[in-house]
Amino acid sequence: MKLFVDTANLDELEQCLVRGFPAGVTTNPAILSKEKQRDFRDHINDMIAVLLKYDCKIPLSVEVFSTEADEMLRQAEEFMECFGHYPYINVKIPIGWNELAVIAELRRRGIEVNCTCCMSYNQALMAARAGANYVSLFWGRIRDIGYDAGSVVRHVAETLKTSGSSSEIIVGSIRHIADINEAMQAGAHILTVPPKFFPQMCSHPKTDEAVQQFVSEFQKWQQQGANLGLSKVA
Ligand code: E4P
Repeated sequence: MKLFVDTANLDELEQCLVRGFPAGVTTNPAILSKEKQRDFRDHINDMIAVLLKYDCKIPLSVEVFSTEADEMLRQAEEFMECFGHYPYINVKIPIGWNELAVIAELRRRGIEVNCTCCMSYNQALMAARAGANYVSLFWGRIRDIGYDAGSVVRHVAETLKTSGSSSEIIVGSIRHIADINEAMQAGAHILTVPPKFFPQMCSHPKTDEAVQQFVSEFQKWQQQGANLGLSKVA
């Protein structure tokens, strides 16, 4: 089970990296457009600087921002020039017929690919067959139009396993904590999660209650000892 951070925000990224759990980072053009306006190459390089600060050796996905196959290839090469000093870069290419040729060509050139925007079983399998290292299925968006995202993920996971594929399923488009749990249970290899969900994933009201109880009972006990002259209260 691996958790990726779905963000382009430098502070959010650092808040996650400092806690040690991220196994990767995903961005997309829409996520990048939420950040302060600047040359996106500088922004991605600042993200890489944060990853290097924490000595991370984890994948970072950067997505092309064109619908033309030739331009996608050009952008992918540019990404490798600008960001290749971080050896864990992969290029996100949306699924599609012309896009499949881009994926296959990038893999021939030794560039890792995350095939994104997959909404169906057949799209995911085509991406895997073309050689995508990661196949990103969009949980929330699949459910938006009434399909069962759990079945899609489960069937893709089973087929990749039985066919011996090395492609890994990333489930994105997470809208609720329950999505994360259900997608993992359906067989996703990786979940990419917006950072706002991570603090919630560590908290539970019964945990707060237990910790409060332990601290307050210990403090009472210490106070009693201090009253008897046996110990000092900190
Ligand atoms: C995944 O890699 C994508 O960045 C992301 O999860 C897309 O989800 P959305 O439906 O919130 O745009």
